[in-house]
Amino acid sequence: MTPATAADGTSQSLVLPASRATGCPFDPPPAYDQALRHEPVRRANLWDGTSCWLLTGYHQVRSVLGDRRFSADARVPGFPFLSPGRRELVNRTTPSFIRMDDPEHARQRRMLTGDFIIKRVDAMRPQIQQVVDDTLDRMVAKGAPADLVTDFALPVPSLVICLLLGVPYEDHEFFQRHSRTLLDLASGPEPVRASIQSLTDYLSDLTARRRRDPDDSVLGRLAQREDISLGEAASMGLLLLVAGHETTANMTALGTLALLRNPDQAALLRGEPDLAKGAVEELLRYLSIVHSGLPRVALEDVELDGTLIRAGEGVMLMLSTANRDAGLFEDGDRLDITREARRHLAFGFGVHQCLGQPLARVELEVALRTLFGRLPGLRLAVPFEEITYRTDMAVYGVNELPVSW
Ligand code: HEM
Repeated sequence: MTPATAADGTSQSLVLPASRATGCPFDPPPAYDQALRHEPVRRANLWDGTSCWLLTGYHQVRSVLGDRRFSADARVPGFPFLSPGRRELVNRTTPSFIRMDDPEHARQRRMLTGDFIIKRVDAMRPQIQQVVDDTLDRMVAKGAPADLVTDFALPVPSLVICLLLGVPYEDHEFFQRHSRTLLDLASGPEPVRASIQSLTDYLSDLTARRRRDPDDSVLGRLAQREDISLGEAASMGLLLLVAGHETTANMTALGTLALLRNPDQAALLRGEPDLAKGAVEELLRYLSIVHSGLPRVALEDVELDGTLIRAGEGVMLMLSTANRDAGLFEDGDRLDITREARRHLAFGFGVHQCLGQPLARVELEVALRTLFGRLPGLRLAVPFEEITYRTDMAVYGVNELPVSW
């Protein structure tokens, strides 16, 4: 078996992560799109001179995510890292369960599943609506123009995850700053190490306090368990805190921009607010904000579509192109909030599929429905071309979104 090659027989070299410099800011980098069309399983290079497999097709990505012969454990030799800072994340003493395999991954994840089931999250709807209403009230009271990122998209999921976890929102500047460093692919090992330390100290301290003085928050309940250490509880809290606000915040802001850029779709949503649920799925698919790929490493030799992936070889799974795959989504480069998009892979797939997806879905639905319902005149306050994007971050989005209404 030979590695896949391009249609013309030459596999041009490609360094990950590929640049988005040209093209539509909502589309995957042209190099990944090219790979999807011609070579959905191909080799690519990494910053440290090593190489890995790049998988861009829907079936290939889904198949690896559902295959236990691929590991998410970053300590396994051959695991692909996108930057020196990402590699540094592994050196921490207590890794998060997102970077563990079963059975330890399943053991820790099970402790949280009850908090994120649809029924539990649906019960939080009134609280989420209240957070959205209050945040929007504050933004409107300040007056236009506003930066939708700092005045709405970021505070909403940040407040909600704080409520759920039992983390004081007064500390948001601290944890938002350190989360940013962890998700910035341009951060070197030193800042990453310092941010992990600060967040770990903060959450360890909070968990220890909750052990002495229990409450009914997620962290409060974890702190009371006797089957995990305080360090493990703090590490789970850290994962939830970082994953819980950055992702939803970026989806809200970038999703709003995508709707404003496609006025026919925004008009549909305004005219029929019940389309919000479907709009959220389509925006998740279309924007695929976890854009730098999900890393895995093969534990055994695996044959994938006639290509041999050997034990110890790294694999990067590109959700952004999988979610545009013409085999699954007709005219996938078009935003269509009425399409059936729920098969998308924006939350991943398999045992590591996003734990927080029921929460993210409700937050996004309430946020977009309320924003477009209450501010029918919502529009960009600067030309579209002036918007800048989070190209270097593990989670894609906009840096700022100046709006008027
Ligand atoms: C895992 C995306 C919101 C918590 C993941 C993964 C993706 C993802 C792609 C899989 C990573 C992998 O397989 O390597 C998103 C997106 C979100 C979102 C697009 C919002 C639009 C949230 C929220 C929370 C959360 C709100 C928590 C409150 C987690 C956790 C995992 C995870 C704990 C690890 C699951 C595991 O390893 O078993 N997310 N996420 N996410 N997400 Fe999310």
